[in-house]
Amino acid sequence: MRRKKIIKRGLGLLRNKSVAVLGYGSQGRAQALNIRDSGIVPLIGLPSDSKSRRAAAADGFAIATPKRAIKRSDIIAVLIPDHKHKELFDGLRKLQILSGKALVFAHGFSIAFGLVKTPPDCDVILIAPHGPGLRLREDYLDGKPFTAFRGIDNDHSGKALQIADAYATAIGCPENNLFPSTFKEEAIGDIFGEQAVLCGGLVGLMESGFETLIKKGHSRESAYLECIYQLDLLIDLVKQFGPAGMFERISKTAAFGSLKRKEFLFDSGFRQKMEALYDEIQKGRFAKMLSRESKKEMGGLFKMLNASRNSSLQRTHDSLSHRLKGRRRDSGRRRRSGE
Ligand SMILES: NC(=O)c1ccc[n+]([C@@H]2O[C@H](COP(=O)([O-])OP(=O)(O)OC[C@H]3O[C@@H](n4cnc5c(N)ncnc54)[C@H](OP(=O)(O)O)[C@@H]3O)[C@@H](O)[C@H]2O)c1
Repeated sequence: MRRKKIIKRGLGLLRNKSVAVLGYGSQGRAQALNIRDSGIVPLIGLPSDSKSRRAAAADGFAIATPKRAIKRSDIIAVLIPDHKHKELFDGLRKLQILSGKALVFAHGFSIAFGLVKTPPDCDVILIAPHGPGLRLREDYLDGKPFTAFRGIDNDHSGKALQIADAYATAIGCPENNLFPSTFKEEAIGDIFGEQAVLCGGLVGLMESGFETLIKKGHSRESAYLECIYQLDLLIDLVKQFGPAGMFERISKTAAFGSLKRKEFLFDSGFRQKMEALYDEIQKGRFAKMLSRESKKEMGGLFKMLNASRNSSLQRTHDSLSHRLKGRRRDSGRRRRSGE
């Protein structure tokens, strides 16, 4: 009830505007469904041969080609993969159909690195939710506000900030949960965070620990259980109590050893590599790398995904996951019933 009031109040400038959502993948589907549940029915923009058309139609949306969806809408959410933004905007450049519209991006990448040039007479807005679309949708349905970065690259209408806040509210990120940023800061920070820590860094760390134990004679199962299996429990503690709170809640042996030895692992050489990675991203080298990869239809990515699927760590996960899922569910049930 309270959430409905917040949404109603927050929609502001979005009322009486037409909204197009380009793309119906992770973010596109979640944002389109949330916007509709907030009271505004978006038009979905997808190429006529898009595989996603079936899902959007099954969810009851009207679908048009991206060009037609843009023509018919005031606010356009660009929720297609970043490496495809250039192709889309290059195709629109001469058509002047973006004039007077507001463009909303979910990642600063293509604007920050100049892959996309938008005309001066439109608003260019960033609303970048802090998480995958599935989670954005789940939290919206649970009535939990989601956080996002908000940035404005061009304010042609003089109302870009109000449009940004109203759009964010409609997708489930009310004003209080928006963190001010810029396209550049969000793009660099997001790419650095996922490469160095959240995705690449995390899996690199897991693989290094797993493979070291195996090299030293441990079984694959034991290496998996020691280096990977409990990660979610520790991340939960970090999210709830912070890193110090996590160290305070684990055994004295674990806390002493971890605090004493992390400097040895993450020494100045490691920090230098982190900085080198940052500089590469900031100078646009990663953006160029991605553009080259896109021209090759992401063939290199598919090769790496295939190698990851066949890695010893993944195979160990696959062989253990059934047994381990059962165990985690059991312990959850015990905790809930107070056993
Ligand atoms: N996924 C996340 O967790 C996340 C989080 C925050 C921000 N973002 C940002 O959100 C944006 C969308 O990413 P995503 O992960 O949601 O993408 P995604 O899951 O890969 O979905 C992309 C969608 O765009 C469609 N598409 C491809 N080319 C198109 C075109 N030319 N015109 C219209 N639609 C087209 C695809 O259709 P087909 O089925 O035909 O390929 C698909 O429906 C990106 O800017 C990304 O950085 C993503």
